[in-house]
Order: sequence, then structure tokens, then C-alpha cells
Amino acid sequence: MAFAFTPTNKKKLDTLLKRYPTQQAVLLPALRLVEEQENEITEDAMRVVAERLELPPATVLGVFTFYTHYRRPGTGTYLVQICATLPCALCGARRIEDAITEALGIRPGETTKDGTFTFKKVECLGSCDTAPVVQINDEYHEGLTPDSIRKILKGLRKR
Ligand code: FES
Repeated sequence: MAFAFTPTNKKKLDTLLKRYPTQQAVLLPALRLVEEQENEITEDAMRVVAERLELPPATVLGVFTFYTHYRRPGTGTYLVQICATLPCALCGARRIEDAITEALGIRPGETTKDGTFTFKKVECLGSCDTAPVVQINDEYHEGLTPDSIRKILKGLRKR
């Protein structure tokens, strides 16, 4: 089905356009609005955003592909992103990665067959002082141990 902003999100987008100095500056929050509305960002939605912001579609695609946190089509209900940058690596991120792989039965870059979890390795999540860090959807989980991440994932499965 073709993407269209809901009336509420159209108003939010209009508000954002008044608040930011340029149309291009609204691109990140506009993609976020799409994501909140659709739970993913499709090519069709990117086309609509490009038209609304009067930007080349390639600019929108470039920004979308640069930021790993935007949800691609086919992403699971829970997007589990583990930081793989040095400070987290030094604080045991590999053990957390192994615990996630063991708990979910998937490796980074994969989605569980039931579509519940997508697991990704990402660069610094900006919370190095609480390493190792995993972001699940919008929530950060910090100072993790293999046991604590297993417990978190188990809790999400029960929802
Ligand atoms: Fe992991 Fe910065 S290195 S959050």
C-alpha cells in the first residue's frame, strides 16, 4: 500500500518545518515520524518524504542508509543493536553478543523466524561510560552481563 502521512503526522511535519532552518534539517525527524507511524521505512515512504521536503530521493536514501537505527522493512518487533566499538569490546561486548546469539538463535544481521527479534552490530551508541551497551528499540541497556541480557530478552519474549 502506498505510504501517506496520517493527518496527525502531517501536522507534526508542518510544525517541524516551521521549527527548523532548512527543509533538509527536517529529514531525520521526518524519517523518525515515518518509522513511528509504520514501524519501518520503505522506499515508497522515502519518496514521499523526498517530495514533501523537496529533496532529491538520493539524499533521503543516503541519510537513511547512513543511520543504522532506522528500521528497514523486515525488521523484527524488537531491534537488538549491540555496540561493537572498542570501549564496549574492551568491556565484554563479545560475551554479550554470544549470549544474544545463544538466546535468540540468530547472529548479527539476522531476524528470528517468528519475526520477533532482529539482531545487529552497530558502531558506538554514545554511552561508552556504561559499556557494554545494547539498544533494544528505543531503550538502552547498559553495563550488561551475559546473565542480564539473557534476562532482558526472556522478558521481551513473554510480552
Ligand atoms: Fe559502545 Fe560507545 S563504544 S557505546
